[in-house]
This record gives sequence, C-alpha cells and structure tokens, in this order.
Amino acid sequence: MPRRNRIRSEFPIRILIVVLLAAVCQRATGTGQEPANGEKTQPTSKRVQDKEWWPTRRDASRGDFVGTDACAVCHKEKVEQQQKTPMAHAAWKASDTAVLRSKAAMSNSTAPFETEVRRDRKGSTYTVARGGDAMTGQILWSMGDATMGQTFVLQSGGSLYESQLSYFKAIDGLDLTPGHTRSSPRDLEHAFGLSQSAETAEQCFGCHTTASTVRGRFDEARATPGVTCEACHGPGAQHVKAMQDKQDEVGKGAMLDPRTFGPVKLVDYCGACHRAPLDVIAAKDFLPINVRFQPYRLSKSRCWSRPDQRITCIACHNPHEDLVRDTSFYDAKCVACHASRQDDSAQATEGSAAVDKPAVCKVSTRNCVSCHMPKYTVPQMHGSFTDHDIRVVRAGDPYPL
Ligand code: HEC
Ligand code: HEC
Ligand code: HEC
Ligand code: HEC
Ligand code: HEC
Ligand code: HEC
Ligand code: HEC
Repeated sequence: MPRRNRIRSEFPIRILIVVLLAAVCQRATGTGQEPANGEKTQPTSKRVQDKEWWPTRRDASRGDFVGTDACAVCHKEKVEQQQKTPMAHAAWKASDTAVLRSKAAMSNSTAPFETEVRRDRKGSTYTVARGGDAMTGQILWSMGDATMGQTFVLQSGGSLYESQLSYFKAIDGLDLTPGHTRSSPRDLEHAFGLSQSAETAEQCFGCHTTASTVRGRFDEARATPGVTCEACHGPGAQHVKAMQDKQDEVGKGAMLDPRTFGPVKLVDYCGACHRAPLDVIAAKDFLPINVRFQPYRLSKSRCWSRPDQRITCIACHNPHEDLVRDTSFYDAKCVACHASRQDDSAQATEGSAAVDKPAVCKVSTRNCVSCHMPKYTVPQMHGSFTDHDIRVVRAGDPYPL
C-alpha cells in the first residue's frame, strides 16, 4: 500500500532516517550485479510477456482455472499447509472479513472529517462526513490478512476507491493508509479514498487475489481471494486432466515449476508481487520505504554477489508454509555458505578456500539474522519489516537505500 514513508531502525538503536532522494536515485542505479551465466534480472512488466506463466499475468481464460479444491485431490498436504498462510489470505470479501464481522462499528475523527466503518445486515459501509456533507461507499473487499493491517476497497458512484483509512492491528483501529496524504479540509472525496484507475485496481487484485483479470478483462466480483496455487503455478485445468489420464510428462509440462529456475529468476518470481529489483528502481517513489521490498533488498546484499550460488527466497522460506519466526532456524542457511568457526583456521591458511567460503563471523556463531537482518519499524504501517540486505550493521550507520 504505501509509497512514501520514513523508517526507524530498531537495531542497534532507534535511529530516525533522513531520506536523501538524490542519494537514493544515485544508489539505485548501482543495484543488481550481473551474474556470470548471463541470467539477467527483469522487470515484472517484461516477465509477464514471456511464453510461460508468471504470477500477476492477466491473459489466461477463466476456464483454465480449476480452483484449489481440485489440487487438494492429489496434493492434499500442500493445500492444507498453504491455506494456513497469510499469503493465501491476502484478500477477503467484506462479508468474510473477521475484523468487519467482529465489530459493529469503527470510527476515526481527524478534524474536520468523521470516518465511520459500519456493519449492518446489508453489509459494510464506509462513510466520511464533514459538517452536513457526507460520502458513503460499500466495502467490497479487505486487502491484507491483517498481519499488520487491512485496507478497504470501496465502491461509490460506480468507481472503486482504496480507503483513505486502514485498519491496523497494533492499534486495533483506523489510521491513514500508508502512501495516502492527509486531505485538505475542503476535499471530501480525497478524505474518502484514492480513486482507482483500471490499471491500479487490476494490479492491486493481481497481487492479492487469483484470476481477477482473465483474458485481459478485470472482474473483481469473480476473483478468488488470496494467493492460491494457481496464482503461482499457473492455471491448472490442463495439468489436472493430464494427471487424471496418467500422462505424467504432459501434466508436468503444463505447470510452472519454479524448481527449474536459476537464482535470479527465482527472486524475480517472488518479486512479481514482492517487487523485483527493477520494479523498485522503476518506481522511484517506492524508495524511501524499500525495506518492504525483499527481492530488491536482497539483491543489494554482498551475499548476492556470487553468480552461481546465490541465496534465494526459497532457501529461507517455503511459500507453502508459514513464515518461521525463530531466528535460529536461519543459521543453517547462512553457514551453508559462510564457513563455520571451526573451518575458519583452515581458511586462514589456505588462501583459495576463502574464495569459496566467504568469511566467518568474529562476533557470534548463532542467531545470525538477529544482527545481520535487522528489523525496521515503519511507523505509518504500525509494524516492522526485516531488512533483506544482509550486511554488517554498525551503530549510527544510515539505512542504506
Ligand atoms: C490427478 C492428480 C493431480 C491433481 C488434481 C493435481 N496434480 Fe499436480 N501433480 C500431480 C502429479 C502426479 C505430479 C508429479 C509428481 C510430483 O511432482 O508431485 C504433479 C506435479 C505438480 C507440480 C510440479 C510440476 C513438475 O514439473 O514437476 C506442480 C507445481 C503441481 N503439480 C501443481 C498442481 C496444482 C496447482 C494443482 C491444482 C490446480 C494440481 N497440481 C493438481 C498430480 C496432480
Ligand atoms: C501473486 C502475488 C505473490 C507472489 C507471487 C508471492 N507473494 Fe508472498 N505475499 C503476497 C502478499 C499479497 C502477501 C501479504 C499477505 C498478507 O496479507 O499478510 C505476501 C506475504 C508473504 C510472506 C509473509 C507471510 C507472513 O507470515 O506475514 C512471505 C514470507 C512471502 N510472502 C514469501 C513469498 C515467497 C518466498 C514468494 C516466492 C516463492 C512469494 N512470497 C511470492 C503475494 C505474493
Ligand atoms: C505488486 C503487488 C502488489 C500490489 C499492486 C498491491 N499489493 Fe498489497 N501487498 C503486496 C505484498 C507482497 C504484501 C506483503 C508485504 C508488504 O507489506 O509489502 C502486501 C501487503 C499489503 C497489506 C498489509 C497486509 C498485512 O497482512 O498486514 C495491505 C493492507 C495491502 N497490501 C493492501 C493493498 C491494496 C489495498 C492494494 C491496491 C489498492 C495493494 N495492496 C496493492 C503486494 C501488492
Ligand atoms: C507463492 C507462490 C506459491 C504458491 C502460492 C504455491 N506454490 Fe507450489 N511452489 C512454489 C515454489 C517457489 C516451488 C519450488 C520450491 C519448493 O519446492 O518449495 C513450488 C513447488 C511446488 C511443487 C513441487 C515440489 C514439491 O514439493 O512437490 C508442487 C507439487 C507444488 N508447488 C504445488 C503447490 C500447490 C498444490 C499449491 C497450492 C496449495 C502451491 N504449490 C502454492 C511456489 C508456490
Ligand atoms: C537468509 C534468509 C532469508 C532469505 C534468503 C529471504 N528471507 Fe525473507 N525473511 C527472513 C527472516 C529471518 C524474516 C523475519 C522472520 C521473523 O519475522 O522473525 C523474513 C521475513 C520475510 C517477510 C515478512 C515481512 C518482513 O519483512 O519481515 C517476507 C514477506 C519475506 N521475508 C519475503 C522474502 C522474499 C520475497 C525473499 C526473496 C527475495 C526472501 N524473503 C528471502 C529470512 C530470509
Ligand atoms: C549463497 C551463499 C551465501 C549465503 C547463503 C549467505 N551468504 Fe553472506 N555472503 C556471501 C558472499 C559470497 C559474501 C561476500 C563475501 C566477500 O565478498 O568476501 C557474503 C557476505 C556477507 C557479509 C558481509 C557483508 C558486507 O557488506 O560486508 C555478511 C555480514 C554476511 N554475508 C552474512 C550472512 C548471513 C547472516 C547469512 C544468513 C542469513 C548469509 N550471509 C548467507 C554468500 C552467502
Ligand atoms: C550479536 C550480533 C551478531 C551475530 C549474532 C552474528 N554476527 Fe556476524 N558480525 C557482527 C558484527 C558486528 C560484524 C562486524 C565485525 C567486525 O568487522 O569487527 C560481523 C561480521 C560478519 C561477517 C563479515 C566478516 C568479514 O570479515 O567480512 C560475516 C560473513 C558474518 N558476520 C556472518 C555471520 C553469521 C553467518 C552469523 C551466524 C552464524 C553471524 N554473523 C552472527 C555481528 C553479529
């Protein structure tokens, strides 16, 4: 959701970061070291034009999608696990949204506007009032699984809006949607929300739902909520049919298998929604809060500097399972490349070994990510993000954009 922001470091001490946009643009162009095997990072706008499936693609037909229940027939365990993840719940129809269902009303008063989210038998409404004037809309969707918050997609006068205020879990209430600016006292529509163009609505649903745009036609009412199997692997009709007919090879060929990707492509793949490095560079206005954009951040790390054995998202995350919050879980991933302390003495004597196994840490042998992947609070989001620019963080260093 947000575009412009300031971030605050939680580690090693809380520092307010002053964003120098000039420096941002300069640094940004230096990102994305080229690998030796010629595989180049690409923006999502280009990836979606390839022959094979790519997440957020909009040109399959509705009949190509079979839905997750169909996958469960043969991939039962994967479906059960994946359906518990926030990604699978990245969007909710208003009528199913826990937050909206559990509260009869929520309100916020930011003079001169009064905002009220109200639920009645007909559904949920979002109203902004100023003096005698008011603007009301139906809440169609709540975007986000409320790990941090949820933003409402509203309909008013035939147009879609992104709500000016969002629900935040940390305050259990409404506050300004990140990326939005306060409205001038005269502008009621601005205080209501951001009118969505066809393009921005398609993108929003493209990342948070499945099959919202088919054959180039956007239809939010028929979107499947959340990031489902078919959002990542492509529509499944052909695969299911082939597998039922025991045509294994045809079946396998019909599904996108990310295990066949090299590291650069894999990171661009998650970046279809989490923002690939070049997506972030193109959208300069994203930069001040770029800690949210893990593919971009990771590509800046020196751990990403080797052509053939780079670390990818799936080294640390299984997209079919919940995010692991135990820091020690990640140690093995780091040590896979960074020699353990025992190997260190060997490294010091053999010069060439140091090339294959990058240096080991003098400071600690455990909980690597707690120091080298610090969390930064984004105040406007009432939450924090983990910096995927793996690096040595020194007290007082500015946040490296
Ligand atoms: C009739 C049984 C069946 C159904 C239904 C089915 N699959 Fe599969 N799927 C298989 C088999 C068998 C394989 C090959 C063995 C394996 O890798 O697990 C496979 C492999 C895959 C692969 C790996 C592809 C590869 O190249 O190896 C993916 C991804 C996949 N399925 C996704 C899905 C999705 C998504 C759905 C629902 C849209 C689905 N499958 C429905 C049987 C099925
Ligand atoms: C189709 C879009 C899309 C793709 C592709 C995608 N993600 Fe996500 N991901 C999301 C959205 C949207 C969320 C936010 C979910 C929410 O509402 O909390 C998310 C959240 C996450 C989270 C946080 C879960 C939590 O517990 O808060 C992780 C980890 C994650 N994604 C990893 C990945 C990885 C790894 C890949 C690539 C294999 C990937 N994602 C590809 C859309 C996507
Ligand atoms: C390019 C893909 C993309 C687009 C477009 C996009 N989002 Fe997201 N959104 C994500 C991903 C990935 C996350 C999870 C990580 C993060 O917060 O950046 C997310 C997170 C969120 C969250 C926080 C979820 C939580 O659990 O705390 C909300 C709310 C949200 N998006 C709302 C929206 C709305 C509303 C729109 C459109 C009007 C939108 N997003 C457009 C990819 C996208
Ligand atoms: C966020 C993107 C994403 C989503 C959603 C997703 N997958 Fe995957 N899937 C991947 C990636 C990346 C891999 C390769 C790495 C791995 O095996 O985890 C993969 C691998 C697979 C494989 C082959 C490897 C194996 O373990 O058998 C199958 C089968 C599969 N997925 C099925 C599914 C099914 C069924 C669903 C829905 C319940 C699903 N996937 C949802 C990204 C995704
Ligand atoms: C070296 C391990 C590692 C790699 C590689 C990695 N992550 Fe993470 N990721 C983490 C850790 C650690 C956390 C924080 C877990 C927690 O909350 O304690 C995290 C958290 C996240 C979150 C939750 C929001 C946040 O920022 O805290 C998302 C989304 C995410 N990762 C996506 C990705 C994507 C996409 C990639 C690939 C570009 C990726 N990660 C690569 C270790 C990794
Ligand atoms: C795929 C291999 C690989 C993995 C996995 C990996 N790294 Fe690295 N890392 C490297 C390489 C290569 C360098 C650059 C070393 C050099 O230039 O001497 C590096 C550099 C570093 C540096 C120094 C960065 C700087 O800016 O000076 C730190 C700190 C670091 N890694 C920590 C980690 C931690 C913590 C993890 C686990 C979360 C991790 N690495 C996982 C390959 C990896
Ligand atoms: C308590 C915080 C902390 C923990 C935990 C930690 N490190 Fe470090 N690490 C540091 C600091 C500080 C430095 C910089 C040391 C210096 O230059 O004097 C560093 C340096 C490094 C370097 C760069 C070495 C060089 O000379 O270029 C690597 C690589 C590294 N750590 C990897 C790891 C790995 C892998 C783990 C987990 C096994 C880990 N660190 C755990 C704080 C930590």
